[in-house]
Amino acid sequence: MTAQQRQKLLRAARAAMKHAYAPYSSFRVGAAILLRDGRIFSGCNVENASYGLTICAERNAIFSAVANSPKKPEILAAVVVNHRNAPCSPCGACRQVLAEFGPRAVVCYPGADGIVQRSMQELLVDGFSLCPNEPDATR
Ligand code: THU
Repeated sequence: MTAQQRQKLLRAARAAMKHAYAPYSSFRVGAAILLRDGRIFSGCNVENASYGLTICAERNAIFSAVANSPKKPEILAAVVVNHRNAPCSPCGACRQVLAEFGPRAVVCYPGADGIVQRSMQELLVDGFSLCPNEPDATR
């Protein structure tokens, strides 16, 4: 990911973070993804009184991209931010979903000493796959 792309994704993630609905944790998260076709999608976390129904910012961004794409979208890069700028990497469920649409994506998030950049291969080892020989099958 270029510095310019990263800046653009950071801006989109921060804008989405402002829309987070997080009255239970008070932890507002924003995510933005860059697709191979150049489009950027963003999402925020949306919590629920029934806590388990909460959806993370990363998955909201990805599901929005899928809903707006006639073909399976490919994620090249993702950026995640939170309003406290606390060290916060994508949760396991979001890693699995990120891997589905961006097995070769790079992912940036706040670490202890600034922004960390990792590959999906680093973030998810031996993720679940139903068709291991066709990880990139298009729908
Ligand atoms: N959260 C995210 O949005 N993304 C993650 O990867 C981890 C956690 C949200 C879910 C919940 O609304 C809040 O952070 C606290 O767990």
